[in-house]
Amino acid sequence: MCGTVGLFTGCQALTYCPKKVILGDTGDADSTADDEYQSPFRTWYSKASVRKSPRRMVEEGDDDAFFFSPELVPVARHPLVMELPPGTFREILLQHLYRYLDFTAKLEYLVVNRTALGIAQGSVRVDIPEEMRLDAYKIYCDEAYHTLFSVDLLQQVQQRSGVRAKLPEEPYFLTRLRQYLETLDASRRPLVELLFVVVSETLISASLAEVPADDGVHPTVRAVIRDHAADEGRHHTYFAMLVRYLWAQLDDEARRFASRIVPTLINFFLAPDTPALLDELRGYGVKADTAQQILAETYTAEALATHARITARQTVRIFAALGALDDSAARDAFENSGLLIE
Ligand SMILES: [Fe+2]
Ligand SMILES: [Fe+2]
Repeated sequence: MCGTVGLFTGCQALTYCPKKVILGDTGDADSTADDEYQSPFRTWYSKASVRKSPRRMVEEGDDDAFFFSPELVPVARHPLVMELPPGTFREILLQHLYRYLDFTAKLEYLVVNRTALGIAQGSVRVDIPEEMRLDAYKIYCDEAYHTLFSVDLLQQVQQRSGVRAKLPEEPYFLTRLRQYLETLDASRRPLVELLFVVVSETLISASLAEVPADDGVHPTVRAVIRDHAADEGRHHTYFAMLVRYLWAQLDDEARRFASRIVPTLINFFLAPDTPALLDELRGYGVKADTAQQILAETYTAEALATHARITARQTVRIFAALGALDDSAARDAFENSGLLIE
């Protein structure tokens, strides 16, 4: 089963038993799930964006603002890109916004909500308190709304700017995740999908953290991302707790496997969409080898490792607290991904 398609089109997601896969056939792993769950959703009905935020409209009169923070789009600031005709810089920021919104929408409805629904209705059978299961439905509502406001914003900005979005057929993170899942034994895939969601929900992306505070960015973009960040704070807390319940129910072999693949999953989420960026640069008339050079000089191994380390700091802490780094191969994998260097 692929991790990215099928939930709403009748694949086996709703009928398989990940618990059996995750726990082994006996299903009798020691569950230490206690009843001390402190729900981060106690004020959800009054605080969630889907409950309280207005539709964010791209009004007229903000045409000087950027559509994304230039600091978060390093390719736009490469010297060879700065030599391109006036207007290219702004369009690169705009296309970055489009890709960000498309990435967000597809992450939510193809990946996170597939797992959220599985947790809520029990096909992802990690033993958790009933309240936690109900909270997964709140996440499901949140993420559906995040999809809606992302697509809504994308369409409004296209209309307002008159610039069409050039989007990849499939965001690169989905391609990487899907291809990786295809290499695995089917028995491993449910655990990997769940871990990918834990990783993606506990990373603190620069976009969520920094765009709302950047007053050079269009206020509607900032408002949408602020709405999203507020909801994701609750999700972060939830998934940090969920992975503790999961971990308590894994046997040693599954824990070792899980520990060793977390850096790979972090990379799937964070690495730049190089095929889409190459296409975009070629669209501005940049030759293929120059476009390759721009990306190689922008996304150096060091730059990527630094970005991953900052973004995944909390995620690494969560897995370290579970003992994931006690396994030497797992520790090597974290170190080799640059996640442990201070
Ligand atoms: Fe979300
Ligand atoms: Fe989320």
